[in-house]
Amino acid sequence: MCGIVGIIGNNNAKDILIDGLKKLEYRGYDSAGIFVNNGQEDFLVKEVGKIKELENAISSNVNGAMGIGHTRWATHGKPTVENAHPQFSEDERFYLVHNGVITNYEELKNTYLSNVKFASQTDTEVAVQLVSYFSKQGMSTLEAFKKTVNLIKGSYAFGMVDKKNPDEIFVAKNKSPLLIGLGDGFNVICSDAMAMIEQTNQFVELMDKEVVVLEKNSYTIFDKDDNEIQRNSYTVDLDPDDISKGTYEHYMLKEIDEQPAVMRKISESYFDNNDDVKVEEKLVNDMAQADRIYIVAAGTSYHAGLVGKTLIEEMTDIPVDVKVASEFGYHMPKLSKHPFFIFLSQSGETADSRQVLVKVKELNLPTLTITNVKDSTLWRESTYQMQLFAGPEIAVASTKAYTAQIAIQAVLAKAVGEKMNSQKAKELDLKEELALAANGMQSMVDEKEMLKKLAHEFFINQAHAFYIGRGVDYDVSLEAALKLKEISYIHTEGFAAGELKHGTISLIEEGTPVVAFINDPNTSEHTRGNIKEVQARGANVLVISNEKYKQDSDQIVLSSINEMLEPLISIIPAQILAYYASLERGNDVDQPRNLAKSVTVE
Ligand code: G6P
Repeated sequence: MCGIVGIIGNNNAKDILIDGLKKLEYRGYDSAGIFVNNGQEDFLVKEVGKIKELENAISSNVNGAMGIGHTRWATHGKPTVENAHPQFSEDERFYLVHNGVITNYEELKNTYLSNVKFASQTDTEVAVQLVSYFSKQGMSTLEAFKKTVNLIKGSYAFGMVDKKNPDEIFVAKNKSPLLIGLGDGFNVICSDAMAMIEQTNQFVELMDKEVVVLEKNSYTIFDKDDNEIQRNSYTVDLDPDDISKGTYEHYMLKEIDEQPAVMRKISESYFDNNDDVKVEEKLVNDMAQADRIYIVAAGTSYHAGLVGKTLIEEMTDIPVDVKVASEFGYHMPKLSKHPFFIFLSQSGETADSRQVLVKVKELNLPTLTITNVKDSTLWRESTYQMQLFAGPEIAVASTKAYTAQIAIQAVLAKAVGEKMNSQKAKELDLKEELALAANGMQSMVDEKEMLKKLAHEFFINQAHAFYIGRGVDYDVSLEAALKLKEISYIHTEGFAAGELKHGTISLIEEGTPVVAFINDPNTSEHTRGNIKEVQARGANVLVISNEKYKQDSDQIVLSSINEMLEPLISIIPAQILAYYASLERGNDVDQPRNLAKSVTVE
């Protein structure tokens, strides 16, 4: 979270920075700022709120060939102009943007900076004041920057400018993502290639604890031991059209609508001409030898992992544990003898997941990252990789990445299961099921008008809501509840339908909305019973069932596919209900309050 851009060697720096920040806005949007220098003059503009506010605050005389920019998701200090980045040194010589959290900032402040007057509450300001402090002691800017970076504990991606030498941008990273992009006569930095893809498709990855001096025609990388090293660029294959909203009012609705096409893309990518599933053999062999599989993820990806557990256990017979990344890394359970780790992450950058990956790698255990973003940090650092092929997901509320993650886990489970001679894996015609899923998704996507009315009827003016289900329906309830709460701000819980009566049912009042999923063959009758229980206490119940288990009064009926894969379809109406509930309540659908899409701090 927090997005960084920078450019050197292009007279249009201001516009490129603003354009890049708009593309990074998903990483944080409570305040933003730019610093631009044109050789004679420099300009610092910072504003609270969205990039649009910043853009409006920039006067027409702001121009330059180099600059840095930042969009913030507040950690230390409220979203104010003072706390927005770039932060600057007391003598206003050094300007710095930062993504990450400096954990020892108070200690550094007390040790070195007791005589410095601080202008913000941020941890970031300590970094820029330190550079100034060391520079005043006679160090060159590069030495002062390196010294500062060496003292800092925690996570950081830095872009820093020295006003006295505007021909260089100083760059460093540890744990937080940052890339260098190479242009013709100019170079850039960015948190995500997407931000600068209209300028270049040539990027250079940076490793933790590296420092870089970026000039308009060159870049010098110093590794963690301060040796100068060479690293070539790679090509990022990203179509700028994929990151536009097209004719849609919101990315979220566009991304919901794209899900049938994503299923088809996954089918094309993971099946060969004979309709056999196609997954890297070494990965399949490695996973087939595991005695336990750990799926590690956060947020929506964690919910996709819950569905993946059923798919993998059913098709491979290997037990699976699904773990919340932020918990697992610091409270690691006793691992099995031959564990295999799967990291599920839309962005491939989530700090909580990454800290687990780092620990698992230290144990020399095999790891697979399933992500939407090729060449992301988790992708690069794991043993094996599988791509989601969902296309860029921009709305903060994840939709198509969730269904893609489920589909990819099904592909993986089938490949490993077949290798292990599992009858269930052999019998599942996954290609056909994905085609059915695409059709079932399309039927729901086509029901937007009906779902819009239901969203109005059930959620408008409500403070609380519940999603309930059993088995994989329970897994989907958790994701459906997250969708509704994160963008509508209605307090929503996803609950195991049978567990409600053991306490939580006391929250049900006259009119409380309860949405029930009925797709699980073993428990549909039981869930019907639980619906009666909440109705008897006044709940307003909306039922999402599939054609096998439907009753006449059910409001939403889904087409039926293999029960393990039914979440691919059943989540769609919940995504659309959340979308319309948010819209009707006047919220910012794509960028809900307090959230960020790519959470790169722990
Ligand atoms: C953030 C996003 C969530 C996402 C989670 C995990 O909190 O707002 O939508 O599910 O991070 O992200 P990942 O990129 O690892 O899937």
